[in-house]
Amino acid sequence: MDTGIAKRLVIGGILIAGTLLILALYLPNLRPDPNGTEVGGTAAIGGPFTLTDHTGTDVNEQILLGHYSLVYFGFTFCPDICPMTLQTVSDAVELLPGQKSELVQPIFISLDPERDTTSVMADYVGHFHSRMIGLTGTADQVRQAAEAYRVFAQKRPLEESDDYTVDHSGFLYLMNRSGRYIDHFGKDVTMEELSARLRELL
Ligand code: NI
Repeated sequence: MDTGIAKRLVIGGILIAGTLLILALYLPNLRPDPNGTEVGGTAAIGGPFTLTDHTGTDVNEQILLGHYSLVYFGFTFCPDICPMTLQTVSDAVELLPGQKSELVQPIFISLDPERDTTSVMADYVGHFHSRMIGLTGTADQVRQAAEAYRVFAQKRPLEESDDYTVDHSGFLYLMNRSGRYIDHFGKDVTMEELSARLRELL
């Protein structure tokens, strides 16, 4: 074979191999997320957890799969923000037309496993929504879940009593059907705003 043709074939081969390598490396990142907009490329919020639901069944992050989830961390003794937020979640889901409400799973994760046993959680979530899942666990399990969702939580003794409260961040997280983070809402979110955001996706 003529050395000129051979050289061209080798160079061509290298170029094709290089192009294929670049496509293989970058194409997966360029594909849009079919279930919503990814924020910042890789999701920084969410991840593996192992907890126990309010019926006493051990669960993990796979409970997020197949539907949208609204995930909120708090504690059942919280006097104001937690119950207000969970009521907003419940109302927003109920505002969705017809069967669409069943495509959204409300989830409440306790930051106070000491007091929030599965039976306390069962009673509590039942007050808000028939399909709300309450999750609790050991102190370590709860800490791991909170860290995965970047949730701050700190036990604080109450003055002149043996009781304590739990200071905590109060973001509500929206996860997509693959269990990945899409959006978050602050404590002032209204049921109309939340329901409108869900309707965009469903
Ligand atoms: Ni609270």
